Amino acid sequence: GSDQFGADAAPANALWLRAIRSPHARARFELGNFDALYQRHPDLVKVLIAADIPGENSFGVYPDLKDQPVLADGEVRYRGEAILALIGPRAAIAAITAEELPIIWSLETPTVGIAAATASSVAPVHATRPDNILVHGNVECGDVDAAFDAAAAVAEGEIQTAFVEHAYIEPEAGYAMPLADGRIEIVASTQTPYIDRDEAARVAGIDPAQVRIIPTACGGGFGGKLDVALQPTLAAAARVVGRPVRSIYSRIESMASTTKRHPAYIQGRIGVDGDGRITAYESSADFNTGAYASWGPTVANRVPVHAAGPYRVSNVHNRSRAIYTNETPAGAFRGFGVPQSAILNERLLDDAAERIAMDRWDIRYLNALRPGDATVTGQVLKASCGLAACLDALREDWRAMLTRASEHNARDGVLRRGVGIGCMWYGCGNTSMSNPSSMRTTLDRNGRLTLFNGAAEIGQGSSTVILQICADALGLPVDAFDYVIGDTDRTADAGKTSASRQTFVSGKAAYLAGQDLRAKLLAAAEAGADASLNLDGSRVIVAEGDTKREVELTQYLDEGEVMEGVGSFDPPTKALDEKGQGDPYATYAFAAQICELDVDIELGTVDVLRIVAAHDVGCAVNPTLVEGQIHGGIAQGLGMALMEEFIPGRTENLHDYLIPTVGDMPQIDIRLIEDPEPLGPFGAKGVGEPALIPTPAAILSAIHDATGAWIDRIPALPHRVRDAIRDTQL
Ligand code: MOS
Repeated sequence: GSDQFGADAAPANALWLRAIRSPHARARFELGNFDALYQRHPDLVKVLIAADIPGENSFGVYPDLKDQPVLADGEVRYRGEAILALIGPRAAIAAITAEELPIIWSLETPTVGIAAATASSVAPVHATRPDNILVHGNVECGDVDAAFDAAAAVAEGEIQTAFVEHAYIEPEAGYAMPLADGRIEIVASTQTPYIDRDEAARVAGIDPAQVRIIPTACGGGFGGKLDVALQPTLAAAARVVGRPVRSIYSRIESMASTTKRHPAYIQGRIGVDGDGRITAYESSADFNTGAYASWGPTVANRVPVHAAGPYRVSNVHNRSRAIYTNETPAGAFRGFGVPQSAILNERLLDDAAERIAMDRWDIRYLNALRPGDATVTGQVLKASCGLAACLDALREDWRAMLTRASEHNARDGVLRRGVGIGCMWYGCGNTSMSNPSSMRTTLDRNGRLTLFNGAAEIGQGSSTVILQICADALGLPVDAFDYVIGDTDRTADAGKTSASRQTFVSGKAAYLAGQDLRAKLLAAAEAGADASLNLDGSRVIVAEGDTKREVELTQYLDEGEVMEGVGSFDPPTKALDEKGQGDPYATYAFAAQICELDVDIELGTVDVLRIVAAHDVGCAVNPTLVEGQIHGGIAQGLGMALMEEFIPGRTENLHDYLIPTVGDMPQIDIRLIEDPEPLGPFGAKGVGEPALIPTPAAILSAIHDATGAWIDRIPALPHRVRDAIRDTQL
């Protein structure tokens, strides 16, 4: 391939930057004198410390939550926090040992875990938040207490989840280069060029317009590169030393210092009537946001909306909190907390079904949100609401799996077969916040089209899909286009590659841009809306039936001039009020996955055999890419359910931290449902996060089916599964 990733290239005269990070989770420190260090290492160019930061020594992804220092200033709040940066030739800075650095530590007791952080006597992680609570979320409707009193059956439970590492194959990497005119150019792997631009500018002490971000090809992000990691440090360093500065995180550095999936502790209960209709739902979710805010507020706001699942329920109270601890900051990771809450939601539904002797597929089909239903936020779903269709697509597989499992389990043996199911819904785009995207396409006098696309491609295929949409809206083939992707100087802001929004939001903007250019060509040819277009050199052939007209572009456009199509789209939402009522998202993706697995009841090991995944994507613009997203989401969901547990200081490498390999993957079958979203381009919505969300829930549902045990803590490592089986048998 010709793509260049973050580590692939840098200017020949670039210096290297190596961050020195805290080995302590909570400490104060003083820095001594560095003269001896410079003397021993004459090639060392600069020891960058907090006081050297030219602008503000803080960053964050929320406008009012810049709580993370670029370089710690006398105090660290988690193990892995950067305290200084060595800048110089690679060999020179690599040769410097920890013992040579004059750092005097004074250790303090770290606050570890949600329970400790919410205890009344604890010293706060941030003096500004005495109770360690970053933010609360809340959604309530109906009369929950009355509905629970009247329920035919009530199930309750809890789930505890771990830090999860994104484990993208490409670590954080890139460079910053000062330009002659005072500007800084940053070339790095990212999901969010405009946040990178703004944060790098604040830290470098220059105007955002003075920073140019050019994203490299991205070897995976999954939310981890939605956060700012090396960009502000590189910008500050480049400004201070006046030379290009590059950095490549080591795997351990990447794992120890960058954001994770929020560990959650969620309790809840569900009430159903005698027919299996869900009448009440209540949940309370605490998320460990670690030492700094990152995307904690997004998780806290999104979860209460989604926590009661893709079901019709009129009496609901869902609460959430994001809580500071002295642990690795938790941020965005595929689903923003919804995979965690979906586990409890689906488990409670399974439990309720069991209590009234109802099939687990049946109870979901009965309660599935359908067009015309109101959600827990009072939003009436008008269209593109394909959960029932997803379940229909799984009905035969479900029956067949159940039959196979009961045949298997009729034989004695330590391998018990289980069948599970998980559903999900997911609002595409930011929660009740404007998240516009703009696209531009041009046609020059030689008949060459260009699409200017500011959406950061993170390997999921947005560049392919957005071009396909634009080309189809215009009516000309994709290979007639040149492409300019993700360059803050040359492309408009397409927002973040996040929240499963790029196909829906940027795709719609590209659709409108294609249509805009098409309208101009049709007007030039005085042709009707149904005319077909063909390019032949500098001529556009416009055909209506047998009638053909030509637009000779050289007659319309001077040298250097272009004909332009532009489009912008901001999905319409309505703010949530105090009770969480409103229209937080313009559209929702829906999915159901079913799973077949074996549990070794002596060893506690789980072997996932097959997953059938049905996803309502509105329109599969590129079915191969949609399937790729679903395969990847299932792999990550399987890892989250069964293997992955990041423990600061202990599993900071890919030897001790286990992720699924090809050998762990089940057979995957995919059923694509296309219930078109009227706002979306050709009906499309999103699939990135939806691909993962139902998987852990379906796997845990199947473990319960196989063993009778509810798993209260993930990952469901063999010892936990064995303990849960033993506790169930007692
Ligand atoms: Mo994703 S959690 O929206 O980067």
